[in-house]
Order: sequence, then structure tokens, then C-alpha cells
Amino acid sequence: MTLKLNDKYLSKFVTQDDYNKIKPTLESAYQTLTSRTGKGNDFLGWIDLPVNYDREEFERIKSAAKRIQNSCDVFIVIGIGGSYLGARAAIEFCKGQKYNALKKSTPDIYFSGNDISASNISELLEICEGRDVCVNVISKSGTTTEPAIAFRIFRDMLYKKYGKEEAVKRIFVTTDRCRGKLKELSDAEGYETFVVPDDVGGRFSVLTPVGLLPIAVAGIDISDMMKGAADARENYSLCDIEKNDSLKYAAIRNILHAKGKSVEILASYESALAMTAEWWKQLYGESEGKENKGIFPASVSFTTDLHSMGQFIQQGSRIMFETVIDVQNSDSKVLIPYDESNSDGLNFIAGKDMHYVSRTAFKGTAIAHTDGNTPNIVLELEKRGAYEFGYLVYFFELACGISGYILGVNPFDQPGVEEYKKNMFALLGKPGYEELGKQLLDKI
Ligand code: PA5
Repeated sequence: MTLKLNDKYLSKFVTQDDYNKIKPTLESAYQTLTSRTGKGNDFLGWIDLPVNYDREEFERIKSAAKRIQNSCDVFIVIGIGGSYLGARAAIEFCKGQKYNALKKSTPDIYFSGNDISASNISELLEICEGRDVCVNVISKSGTTTEPAIAFRIFRDMLYKKYGKEEAVKRIFVTTDRCRGKLKELSDAEGYETFVVPDDVGGRFSVLTPVGLLPIAVAGIDISDMMKGAADARENYSLCDIEKNDSLKYAAIRNILHAKGKSVEILASYESALAMTAEWWKQLYGESEGKENKGIFPASVSFTTDLHSMGQFIQQGSRIMFETVIDVQNSDSKVLIPYDESNSDGLNFIAGKDMHYVSRTAFKGTAIAHTDGNTPNIVLELEKRGAYEFGYLVYFFELACGISGYILGVNPFDQPGVEEYKKNMFALLGKPGYEELGKQLLDKI
């Protein structure tokens, strides 16, 4: 079993009666999603994506990834939100947080355009000095400010470094099939382009070229990743919580929410999953947080954060529940050495594998937090790999769609994101925003 929901730490928080009560709403949300009759139903391409994707483009991604691997030392991936988090999450999930520092035959990969930090950009430009560089700019709309600024800077750098003819071969664009400024620019300059499907929103797009090109450049098997997602799609096709853990996860988080748990903390004992948690936060935060509703998604990395956030989780306001991804097996075997003097008092774990110690820490923590009235949903994940990442992505996406409909919102839009952009444009003097600019000047 790749992924299994273990509910043994929930017995005092979720009863059979709770499941019985939520059943009609849950089934209705599931039907709304799968019959494609709910709000935002023009953004449901992700449901069948694992089996229904452009095979020709998929092969082109693999071949572009090989060319990129052979022609650069540094690969800059430009994008923000859904055009950033999935690829970074997958690379760290499969290869670890220290991917760039590892001995490897694939390029270092850096992400840019996910903020407007001058120091981040100038550090990256310095990293590129004296090294061969390729760039992948990803923006569905083709107009998002942060990646647009970063792309302008890196494009300029590439054209100066290589001249136009060579620079064009080093730029790869992932954007809309036919709309947007980035598409127009790509057509005019002759960049190779990949398509963000119309019916897949940013935060659901990791298994499209948005995520797949950077993931493939990192040397990760994207066919295996799609297979994982396809198997999850198959395994989560029944509207029965006894047989569908994704549905059950949606049910439990909504039961807990109704009991006053308004914060969900995604926890893992593997730092390689820290970016997966960032991806998950966007998925749930942007999908559910609207109309004054939603469960606030937070994340922690254990045991690190047991020494910072552990106190609050154990004894602070009782507003949260935890969803713990318990990675059951590790490829790394590190035995704790025996020490004759035992001066640190650690001989009681001498000869034990560190992963065993980590999983024991998880069990002790789950009992402590549950005793402290923080419910724990446990997701047992067999191991970290491309297949498992694809599987986990589909598990969370499906549960997110169902959860959003249980909550009664459109899980596939993000109208609130526009507010900061309008103010920023007005304050920067963008044409068309003059009136708002004048109003804002009184407020700052
Ligand atoms: O999920 C979303 O839709 C957003 O997070 C977008 O991915 C993000 O705003 C970037 O948009 P774009 O790809 O159009 O640049």
C-alpha cells in the first residue's frame, strides 16, 4: 500500500456518529465533483490528467530535459504560486533539500520569480557567473508581475552572455496554448514552449509541463510520477470512506473543523517534505480560504519544530489538528555508533537505525499531542520516490476538491489574490490605476 490513512489517534475526537452525520454531505460533494456540475467545473482537467495528457508533449518534455541537462550547469526555474511550488516540492521530495550540493550529473536548479527580492535575484546572477545557464519561465497567464520581472532580468543576462541565437535555445517557456504576453514573446523570439492546459488551475498543475519539465531536468522519472497519480486515481474512484482514504481524509478534516478545529498543521519528520507542505498549503489555502470560510493550513517539520512550535501544539489554544505524513521506509541507513565511554548517555540506542529512532519520535509525539487534545490524522507513506509523489499529489487534490464543496465554496478560483496586485500596480504608477493610486496615497 503506497499511502494509507491511519485513524487510530482519532478515536476520542471522531466517532461513528460523526461519520454517519457527514455522509450525505460528503457523498453529495463527491458527486458534485465527479459529475462536474459544481462551481469552478471548467477547472477539473486535473481529475483525469494522470491518464489523459498530451503524450507527444510528454516526450518533448523528456527530450528538452536531456538537452538542458547536457547544456547547462545552472537551471533557473521562474514562476510563482502554482507555477513554482509543485516542481520544487517534487524535486526536494525525491532528491532531498540538498539536491544542489549533491554529486550529480544533472544541473543545479534554482527557483526565481517567486518574490520581488533584489538580493535573491542578485545572488542568483552571481551564482550564474562563469557557468552555463538555461531558463524555464512558467506562467499560465503570462502576465504575473514577479516572474515577469525575473524573466526580463534573466533574459537580458542570457542575451548578453550568449548572443540572441544561442540564448533562444536556452529559454524554455511554459504558458497558455495561445494567449498572453509570454506566448506572444515566445512566438516572436522562437522559444520552445510547453502548454498549461486551459482546464487545470495553477495549484493543480504540478503534473502538467508546469512541474514536469523542471522535475525531469532533476533526473526524476516523470513516467513513474504519472503512474503513481494514475494508480491513485484508480484507487480513489469509489464513493465509500471504507475504500477511499482521500474521501475519508476530506470527511475527517471537515468533522474536526465543525468541532472548532480551524487550523490544520501538516507535519512530517522528513525535511525533504518541507516544500511538499508549502505546495499543500497553497492547494488548501487558496482553494478553501474564501467567503470568510476555510481551515487555515499551516506546516511544521519535526522533530525540528517540536523545539519551537511543539509547546503551542501541546498546550496552546486548542484550535488545531495535525495531519502527519509518516514516511515508513528510508533509503538512507545510518546506524548510531556504540561508544565505550557512553559519556553522552546514548548507548541505549547504539546500533539502532536513525530512521527507526525518528519513527519512534513520531509515535511518542502522536500520543502526546493526542493526549493534549490535538487530534492526529496519520498518512502512512511507504517511501519517498517519484511514484509516491504522484500518488500523494492526487490524494490531496481529490480531497481538496471534495472538501471545498463540503464547505460550499468554489475550490477552483482565487478572487482575493487580485487585491494586493491592484494596490501594488496603483502605487507603482501602472497606466490605468491612477485613480486608485490617489486614494491609496492617503492611506500610506
Ligand atoms: O494557483 C494559482 O492559480 C496561482 O497560484 C497561480 O499559479 C500563480 O498566481 C501564478 O500564476 P501564473 O501562472 O498565471 O503566473
